[in-house]
Amino acid sequence: MRSRILLFLLTAVLTVANASAQGPIVIKFSHVVAADTPKGKAAVRFKELAEKTTGGRVRVEVYPNSMLYKDKEELEALQLGAVQMLAPSLAKFGPFGIKEFELFDLPYIFPSRDVLYRVTQGPIGRELFRKLESKGITGLAYWDNGFKVMSANRPLRMPADFQGLRMRIQSSKVLDAQMRTLGALPQAMAFSEVYDALRNGIVDGTENPPSNLYTQKMYEVQKHVTVSNHGYLGYAVIVNKKFWDGLPGDIRSALEAAMQEATRYANTIAQQENDAALQAVRRSGKTEVHVLNDKEMAAWREALLPVQRDLESRIGRDLLSSVNKEIA
Ligand code: LMR
Repeated sequence: MRSRILLFLLTAVLTVANASAQGPIVIKFSHVVAADTPKGKAAVRFKELAEKTTGGRVRVEVYPNSMLYKDKEELEALQLGAVQMLAPSLAKFGPFGIKEFELFDLPYIFPSRDVLYRVTQGPIGRELFRKLESKGITGLAYWDNGFKVMSANRPLRMPADFQGLRMRIQSSKVLDAQMRTLGALPQAMAFSEVYDALRNGIVDGTENPPSNLYTQKMYEVQKHVTVSNHGYLGYAVIVNKKFWDGLPGDIRSALEAAMQEATRYANTIAQQENDAALQAVRRSGKTEVHVLNDKEMAAWREALLPVQRDLESRIGRDLLSSVNKEIA
């Protein structure tokens, strides 16, 4: 009997020692923006929820500000399994071979956030995620940021004001077409390089939601900002499929629930964070903020109309007509 108890105790000690030697499952979550942005905050919220609900069996390490990888590299790192989770902007999937995501870059495509949510939370969003599977990636959620502003060192009121400006874009063919249609010269560049490129005059201007413009201090090197809301910027939270499928079922379910909660949080704070960032840019006095009036907005919309027609075959006619049904 005594020896049986000793054996039992020894087994228990060894099991505990083995579990702690294995340590928790680590999720490296890399992203390119500041911690103090909608995406940065939601990533931290996910970490907190995931670690709590799994009772410490999972550790999430969040690496903001391109600390680990720049835009293109992070997608490669995810595929190789060097990181497990990312939240790239939807504009970054085109060069990766999934052009359909560029639908989100089309100027003035979403008349409201409600329509946008119908697209991301419904069958269209799910179908887009299915396209990631062949790349070894699983899509978990869509996180909001917001609608973009334009900036430069000259006022940008009418489309003609863009003539000849070198404008930094994300590497999306739709954004390239958008800038060319306005008469500007698009330059694709990693997010982490934008501030220096603006400061050193390598590019003249850029576009982003106010939260990025503010937290990257781009407004300090741009004299004019135009609130045009001409395009959307959101994220796909993605994981390495092999890693995700290999997780114990209970852990995966707990992480899915944590992600749902973090997504609700992300999509609740996005607008507030962007409003606050725009306010802070205004208060800084370093840049003049102009909100397009109705006449200017109509001129922008009209100038940008050809982009959708020209890019229709790249994005997919069927996909666009499903989106248009959500809008109608
Ligand atoms: C950009 O590259 O401009 C942004 O997409 C960065 C981001 O992730 O918000």
